[in-house]
Amino acid sequence: MTAEYKVHDEVAIITLNNPPVNGLGYSTRKAIADGIDQATADASVKAIVITGAGKAFSGGADINEFGKDSAFREPNLHGVISVIENADKPVVAAIHSIVMGGGLELALACHYRVVAAGTKVALPEVKLGLLPGAGGTQRLPRVIGVEAALNMIVSGETVPAEVLASLPGQKLFDEVVDEPGRVVEAAVAFARSVDDVRPLPKVRDLPARHPQGEAFFQFARNTVGAMVKHLPAPLKCLEAVEAATRLRFDEGLAKERELFLNLMWTPESRALRHLFFAERAASKIDDVPADTPQRKIGRVGVIGAGTMGGGIAMNFLNAGIPVTILETRQEALDRGVGVIRKNYEDRIKKGKLKQDKYEKTIALLSTTLDYADLKDVDLVIEAVFEEIGVKEQVFKKLDEVIKPGAILASNTSTLDLNKIASFTQRPQDVVGLHFFSPANVMKLLEVVRGEKTANDVLATVMALAKKIKKVAVVAGVTDGFIGNRMIEQYSRQAGFLIDEGATPQQVDKAIEKFGFAMGPFRMGDLAGNDIGWAIRKRRAVEKPGLRYSRTADLLCEKGRFGQKTGAGWYDYAPGKRDPIVNQEVLEMIEQYRKDEGITPRKISDDEIVQRLVFSLVNEAAHILEEGFAQRASDVDIVYLYGYGFPFWRGGPMNYANEFGLFNVVEAMKRFARNPHDDVDFWQPAPLLARLVAEGKQFK
Ligand code: NAI
Repeated sequence: MTAEYKVHDEVAIITLNNPPVNGLGYSTRKAIADGIDQATADASVKAIVITGAGKAFSGGADINEFGKDSAFREPNLHGVISVIENADKPVVAAIHSIVMGGGLELALACHYRVVAAGTKVALPEVKLGLLPGAGGTQRLPRVIGVEAALNMIVSGETVPAEVLASLPGQKLFDEVVDEPGRVVEAAVAFARSVDDVRPLPKVRDLPARHPQGEAFFQFARNTVGAMVKHLPAPLKCLEAVEAATRLRFDEGLAKERELFLNLMWTPESRALRHLFFAERAASKIDDVPADTPQRKIGRVGVIGAGTMGGGIAMNFLNAGIPVTILETRQEALDRGVGVIRKNYEDRIKKGKLKQDKYEKTIALLSTTLDYADLKDVDLVIEAVFEEIGVKEQVFKKLDEVIKPGAILASNTSTLDLNKIASFTQRPQDVVGLHFFSPANVMKLLEVVRGEKTANDVLATVMALAKKIKKVAVVAGVTDGFIGNRMIEQYSRQAGFLIDEGATPQQVDKAIEKFGFAMGPFRMGDLAGNDIGWAIRKRRAVEKPGLRYSRTADLLCEKGRFGQKTGAGWYDYAPGKRDPIVNQEVLEMIEQYRKDEGITPRKISDDEIVQRLVFSLVNEAAHILEEGFAQRASDVDIVYLYGYGFPFWRGGPMNYANEFGLFNVVEAMKRFARNPHDDVDFWQPAPLLARLVAEGKQFK
C-alpha cells in the first residue's frame, strides 16, 4: 500500500506512504483517488484529510518514474488533482516537513491547508529545466500573490512555511501548527469546523493579479533573461505565471501544459535531468553493497599545510570534525593556518559566516610537528609534495604510528596509488582522495580505488564525502585518474590549435562561448603553467615521442608562469585577473610555427570546440573501456564539478550523445586527416566505435 485509509471522528484520513518522501508514483496516485472515492461514497464521512507518513507530506513526482510510461499512467497527477478539487466534501491537506513540486500542486487542489511550522515549501521543477506542470504556476500566484509565486517558481528555492504564512493576504495556509506531530489532529479538527461549508472554496476561483500588470512582467523578464542566459525554463516559468494573470483558469492550465511539454524536449532540460540521476548514480559503487559496514571517522589528520592541505582541512572543520595538521617546519604550519584563518575571516567580512561559528570551527583545528600526535586519528590525508620519495617517507611513517583500522589517504594527482599503498603493511586501508583546488570550494572528489583498497574503506569515504558536501566519483589507478587524464588530451589539442593558426584568445573565447567557465590558456595562467611543464618533463621520460606543442614550454622558459608571476599566456595588471593580450607571446607562437614549418590557417570556432570537447570524449571512452571509471555519467559529474563544463550541456558524454555519436566519430575522422594533429589519438576508442556500430549511446 502506498497510501493508507482510515476514518476518525467522521473524517477520512488518507496517509501517503511511499518512502522516502511520498513521491507521487502511479500506485500512490491511484490510492489517493480511490481514497477520495471511498470517502465521498461513505455517508458517515463528513470531511477528508490528506497527509503524508514519515519524513514528508510529499516531495512531488516519484523519481523512479522519471522518463517512464508509468509517469503518465492514469490517474495522472492532473486526474488526482481534479478528483480532489471536485470532491463534494471538504478536503484538508495536513502538511508537514516537506511539500514540494507535485506535492505542493496536490495540496493546492485541496479546499484547505493546515501546515506545521518548519515545513519546507518549494516548486523546484526549474532546477530540472522544467516548470510545475500540474497547475502550480496557475494556483500558487492566486494564494501568495504574483510576485512571491514568481520568485519561488523561477528560482526553485525552498521557503519555510512560516515565511509564506506571514505574507499579507495569503490564502496558502489556513492554519499554522507549531508542533509538527499535531498537524493531523489539527487538520481533523479544522475539517470538522468546515464540514458544512458549501460551496467549497477552490484556489482556481481566486483572482491572480499584479498591481503593475504588464510593466511588472516586463521588468521581471529583463531581470530573469539577464540572469539565465543558457536556460529556457526560467523564462517559460515566467510566461506561465503571466498567463495566470491574463487568461481564464482553464486556459492558463492549458498554456502551462503546452509550455511544460516544450521544455521536456529541450536539450537543457534533458541535460539537467541527466545530471540529477548522474549525481545519484555516482555515489554507488557497483561491487560494493549499499549495506557495507562503515568505519567511524571522528578525527582527521592532514599531512602538509600547503595549497591543498589547508583547503582539505577546512572541509572537515566545517563539518564539525576535529583536524590535526602535521608539517615539517613551524613556519609552514604558521603560514598554512594563516591562510585558513584568512579564508574564514573573508567569509565573515562578506557576511557569510558568524564570528561565534568561526570561533567554534577554528577551535577544532590543531597543529603539530610530531607524528605521535596523530596516533588517534581515524583518517589521515596526505597532501605533501608530489614526489614519490616524499610520499614513501610519509606513508612509512604513518604505517608505524597510526592506529590499526584507520584510513590512510593520499591526495596525489598523478602518482601511482598502488605504489603508495605498497609503502605500508596495510594496503587495504589506503585510498586516494583527490580533491580539487581550491579544496574548500570545489565540489568534486575523485575517490581513487587501489588494487587492494577494502570495501569498507570505500563505503566509508563515499559517505564521508557527502558529509563534507562533496560529490564523490570513484576512479581507478590510471595516470591522472579520470579528470586529469582527460584534460591532458584537451590541453594537447589546445596547443595544436595555436600551432596551426589560432591565437590563445580565440581558443579561450570559443570554448567560453560554448559555456566553459574558462578557456585552457586562461586556466593555465590561473593554475600556474609551471605545473604542466613539470608533468611534461616527466612524460618526456615515461612516454618519449608523445607529440605536443612546445609553445607552453617556451612560455615557461621565459618565466611566464601565469597570474602568480603577472605574466603567462596573457599579461595581468597587479592584483587583477583580466587577461591582457601580449604581443611578445603571439610573436613567440609565430616563430614556433615557422620553426616547425607550419603554415598558419584560419580555424573556425566550431573546429576549436569540437577538437577540445571530442578529445575529452575519446579519452573518456578509453578510460571506461579500461575500467578506470564505472559509468559515462560519472565522467560527466567529474567534468561538471571539477572542470567547469557547462552544466546545461550535461557533461562531455551527455553532450556527445546529444551531438550524435556517429557525428562525433565522423568529426574525429576529419581530425585524423590533419597532419599537424595526433593522427593516432583520433582513432575512435573501441567503446565509441562499438556504440556507433550498434547505434547506441553512452550510458
Ligand atoms: P604545496 O607545495 O602547496 O604544499 C605541500 C606542503 O607539504 C608544503 O607546505 C610542505 O611544507 C609540506 N610537506 C612537504 N613534505 C612534507 C613532509 N614530509 N611532511 C609533512 N609536510 C610536508 O603543494 P599542494 O599544491 O598543496 O599539493 C599537495 C599534493 O596535492 C600533491 O600531491 C599534489 O599533486 C596534490 N594536488 C594538488 C592540487 C593543486 O591544484 N595544487 C590539486 C589536487 C591535488
